[in-house]
Amino acid sequence: MNVAEKQDMTQDNTNHWVQVVALAEIPQLGARVIETATVNVAVFRTSSDEVFAMRDECPHKKGPLSQGIVHGTSVTCPMHNWKIDLASGEALGPDQGCTNVFPVKIEDGMVFIDLRVAVAA
Ligand code: FES
Repeated sequence: MNVAEKQDMTQDNTNHWVQVVALAEIPQLGARVIETATVNVAVFRTSSDEVFAMRDECPHKKGPLSQGIVHGTSVTCPMHNWKIDLASGEALGPDQGCTNVFPVKIEDGMVFIDLRVAVAA
């Protein structure tokens, strides 16, 4: 999905939330990838329907986190099994590193993310 066109349709000067996907289109314990002009964003859904958005790059060697396994509120990278906290983007356990996360809200079954804000670097 290309967000640039959607952004034009759904964003104005006072509202920076971008509608990206329906909650129902994200598999539980899985993710959908949202392509933007600058970054691919993985939008994750937990077993309790919490949704998190982060750059689709592992802080270790840029593995595709969207293809990892979601457990609780973290995801295990498919490349070398680092565990990344979905809320903070930080690596858990002995590993160190962090990937960008983005604010998320859900309204009427639709997921919105704020791409302006990188909560963590
Ligand atoms: S690239 Fe994710 S653990 Fe190595």
